Amino acid sequence: MSRLCLQNYRNYAREGFTPHREINYLYGENAQGKTNLLEAIFLLGTGKSPRNARDQEMTRWGENWFRVDAEVRRRDCAFRMEISYRAGTGKVVSINGQKKERLFDLLGRLNVVLFSTEELQLVKGGPSQRRRFLNLQLSQTNPRYYYDLQQYRRVLQQRNMLLKDIRSGRTYRRDELPVWDRQLVKIGAGLVWKRREIVAKIAPLARGFHRKISGGREILTVEYKPSFPGGGEGKVQEIEADFSRALLAAREDELQRRMTVIGPHRDDLLIFLNGKDGRVYGSQGQQKTAALSLKLAETEYMVEEVGEYPILLLDDIMSELDGERKQFVLKTVQERGQIFITGTEEKDMPPGAAGICYRVNQGLIIKV
Ligand SMILES: Nc1ncnc2c1ncn2[C@@H]1O[C@H](COP(=O)(O)OP(=O)(O)O)[C@@H](O)[C@H]1O
Ligand SMILES: [Mg+2]
Repeated sequence: MSRLCLQNYRNYAREGFTPHREINYLYGENAQGKTNLLEAIFLLGTGKSPRNARDQEMTRWGENWFRVDAEVRRRDCAFRMEISYRAGTGKVVSINGQKKERLFDLLGRLNVVLFSTEELQLVKGGPSQRRRFLNLQLSQTNPRYYYDLQQYRRVLQQRNMLLKDIRSGRTYRRDELPVWDRQLVKIGAGLVWKRREIVAKIAPLARGFHRKISGGREILTVEYKPSFPGGGEGKVQEIEADFSRALLAAREDELQRRMTVIGPHRDDLLIFLNGKDGRVYGSQGQQKTAALSLKLAETEYMVEEVGEYPILLLDDIMSELDGERKQFVLKTVQERGQIFITGTEEKDMPPGAAGICYRVNQGLIIKV
């Protein structure tokens, strides 16, 4: 990214800057706009806020629109990209000034990986966080996955409405269930298949990082855990068959609970440390190391898939990690692409790094 401009975005009225191609260190007191800035870059990459903020929340108070735009130079092309929002109209994406019909046309153009306090809760947190971890990577490297995910959510919503209707006495609608089942299975099995594939690639990378950080003492194992038995060790057709069978078996339970109780929206990742469930038995430190290893693995995965390093966003990592792990992260990511790091002290600028230091103060970015 060679240029970034924010307008009416959070506490930025109108601000632009020219980032360094390696390290951009942003420091400042609390509540000055450091996290907001990284959020804006994440938004350009994924179309979403990492904090799941709604569009209006990202809009500067008292305004009804915002715009984030960037100039991007990749190995084989250069372009401008923009995401803007206006109350009532919603978000719009344009590339080189041309409006795109769909928001997801922006996926895959500016890949990002975020390291933040919340992201480092990946092991400790709930299943939805781990599903999101997979969804975000797959969406960026495989926009088709994002499309399927949207379709799946739509079908799921319809199906849940149907289950509610049947439960509340509109039994004539029961005939419609098989139709929705077929769609749910078809799209859902595809999602599960792709997630298994990505986990198979990420798991060994994460294991390598974890081994290094733990000084060879710990073995990290990561597996995909489908919410239905079998879950297709093999082909996508087998996953469909397993999913389909499990849905039929869950019929009464689903009608009781008025919702779809199995499917990729209920899947999870299993994380083991030396063979024991890391969520249950891991110490806070071990869980954080495992999460960090998974994030570093995500970065490597993107390099392998795309052939280029994603933009790394390191929010408050300096205060989140102890000295050793901090050094490991910095050593691993340096000289491998563009990085945005936030901190509170000027002196925490990574030593020996090629880059620029900025002070962030009340929505202004000042080169130091
Ligand atoms: N929509 C908004 N409009 C204006 N200011 C906002 C908006 N959303 C958040 N803020 C302000 O942004 C600041 C927080 O910025 P943040 O980037 O999280 O700070 P930090 O520098 O500590 O990372 C707070 O002062 C908050 O009031
Ligand atoms: Mg912050």
